[in-house]
Amino acid sequence: MPQLRKEPLISELDIKVRIGHMVLDIAKDLKHQELLLVGILRGSFMFTADLVRLLYINDMHPLIDFVFVTSYEGTQSTGDLRLLREPSLDVEGRWVLIVDDILDTGRTMKYAQEYIKERGAAEVRSCVLLDKPVRRVVDVQADYVGFTIDDVFVVGYGLDHNGRYRDLPYLAILEGEATFE
Ligand code: XMP
Repeated sequence: MPQLRKEPLISELDIKVRIGHMVLDIAKDLKHQELLLVGILRGSFMFTADLVRLLYINDMHPLIDFVFVTSYEGTQSTGDLRLLREPSLDVEGRWVLIVDDILDTGRTMKYAQEYIKERGAAEVRSCVLLDKPVRRVVDVQADYVGFTIDDVFVVGYGLDHNGRYRDLPYLAILEGEATFE
């Protein structure tokens, strides 16, 4: 049975501070574009909410939409990606910032990027709270990264294990089960 490590890997305060810095970078690059922010559900819901509340302080008011991409069962990525919810806003001709909780194998981000590009976006950028580069199996990087982490399975701040722990306001390690592709 996987065990939740009680002490945070990344605390609530550290997350907030880091997002503040990411937002400054995003604002520097994208402030003068009419941005469409597309969050990948479900994992990015908390990150997206905090991100847009800090973008607002930097005088950015992006359009906000969500797609629903799924590939995981337990701690294992099935590699079989499915889009369960399409964006409801038109992406054609827009500058799009894709937001996800974590870049792991990279399959989800690659899939989302291709999907948005195929629909005619003018520019596609990506922003993730966490990056696990050692797990990458497809060639993709994010333009804005919160934290680079080792190969550990993390939960909290929107990330789950079988639907649980998304509510934690911080990130914690779930021990006792290896992550696989
Ligand atoms: P890929 O492998 O496509 O993964 O880059 C992206 C999606 O996989 C989920 N994921 C995780 N979820 N703890 C989680 O709770 C993790 O350590 C983890 N690694 C990947 C996540 O939903 C992400 O959007």
